[in-house]
Amino acid sequence: MSEHRRGIDALKSEGDVNLSPHRLAWSKEHVNEATKNALQEDSRHFLHQSLSTPCLNVLASAQGSWIQDLEGRRYLDFHGNNVHQVGFGHPRVVAAIKQQLDELSFCTRRYTCRPAIELAARLASLTPGDLNRVLFAPGGTSAIGMALKLARVATGKFKFVSMWEAFHGASLDAISVGGEAVFRKGIGPLLPGCEHVPPPDNRHCPFKCGQACNLACADYVEYVLEREGDVAAVIAETIRCTPFIPPPDYWKRIRAACDKHGALLILDEIPIGLGRTGRLFAFEHYGIVPDILVLGKGLGGGIMPLAAMIARESLNVAGDKALGHYTHEKNPVACAAGLATLQVIEEEKLVERARTLGEHALERFREIAQRKRIVGDVRGLGLLMGLELLRDTKTLERATDEAERVMYAALRRGLNFKVTMGNILTLTPALTISREELDQAIDILDECLDEV
Ligand SMILES: Cc1ncc(COP(=O)(O)O)c(C=O)c1O
Repeated sequence: MSEHRRGIDALKSEGDVNLSPHRLAWSKEHVNEATKNALQEDSRHFLHQSLSTPCLNVLASAQGSWIQDLEGRRYLDFHGNNVHQVGFGHPRVVAAIKQQLDELSFCTRRYTCRPAIELAARLASLTPGDLNRVLFAPGGTSAIGMALKLARVATGKFKFVSMWEAFHGASLDAISVGGEAVFRKGIGPLLPGCEHVPPPDNRHCPFKCGQACNLACADYVEYVLEREGDVAAVIAETIRCTPFIPPPDYWKRIRAACDKHGALLILDEIPIGLGRTGRLFAFEHYGIVPDILVLGKGLGGGIMPLAAMIARESLNVAGDKALGHYTHEKNPVACAAGLATLQVIEEEKLVERARTLGEHALERFREIAQRKRIVGDVRGLGLLMGLELLRDTKTLERATDEAERVMYAALRRGLNFKVTMGNILTLTPALTISREELDQAIDILDECLDEV
């Protein structure tokens, strides 16, 4: 039996994964001795879980828009878990981390430190309105947990309204307000008082507005707020990362409904904040300001784990409660990375880059969609882009097998991205990507779409 075959069988025999034929075919071609050994060790030492372990491949380095595997193959990374606003390993961020490591590597509780203070002040100055009060956390899920607690404490109410299909993290509180079955099913009772409503997705809208959206889904949020009562907050992703882009007046209507019924509005911009959509914060596209904003992922420059909850001044009301109390809540190294990241975003004009490069990419994708029937929809804002593959544009039958085939065909040609909801090619490159690299990725996709 060949080494390749043994490696694949080893993965397959782990028993708790259904490796698709496309994944197996890819592995057969690409898994050599060193990669196979690392994958086997990974599979042996980590608890297996959905969407995580066993892994597909092994990374050796990541720089700028690119990742490189153990065997030296390079991929333009249009996935990056959305930590790569400033690209991977940005030299300014790396230098700031190194310098901070030499000065102060940790901040013990009861003490504060300059980088934490400066980052909190910088975020408060960048966010509009009176979004002034910050708490840091070591990850997005933890920051979401703090936001939920703060909403309860500040309003004295306990319910939450959130969206089906949303993701806010994988902890029990976060999956209670999340709406993706893969994270919720089989876990047992979740938080009480979490009501879900349909997201603003006109393609699968239960209110059947069709293309001419009449915001029935936004009105339904108001209906639920009124009927439920006791709602502490509406929590949602400003733009679902898929992406589903809400119509222009959607958030104004939700904002007004929250104000009317005394519920806070928590916006989760963990993957899409900090410039990805062509504005520093995605809610700026909608002319509203949330009561609580949650940032994460790229805030630590794609190197340090760091998230932030930024709340209105008037929400500074929980002085006698522990909202986060995280060991690394004022970690100087993570905060130094955050400060350097914000500086890079400003100095390299990454928000404007995301806007102009995104427009260019969308134009090219729309042209591709005209030539290829399988591309049922192209959508995006800045460098948050999605191609929805459909077998039939009338019935909206999802082209799931085709989407997976395109993904593996793209990997073969050096492009990595995520498929969401089974049929949406979700494309989120580094905001530092060059136009040539972007065009290279689009050319690859164009070719791969021909294969289905
Ligand atoms: C919208 C959204 N919210 C929350 C999270 C959770 O963040 P973390 O994985 O840093 O805990 C994620 C992560 O993918 C996310 O995409």
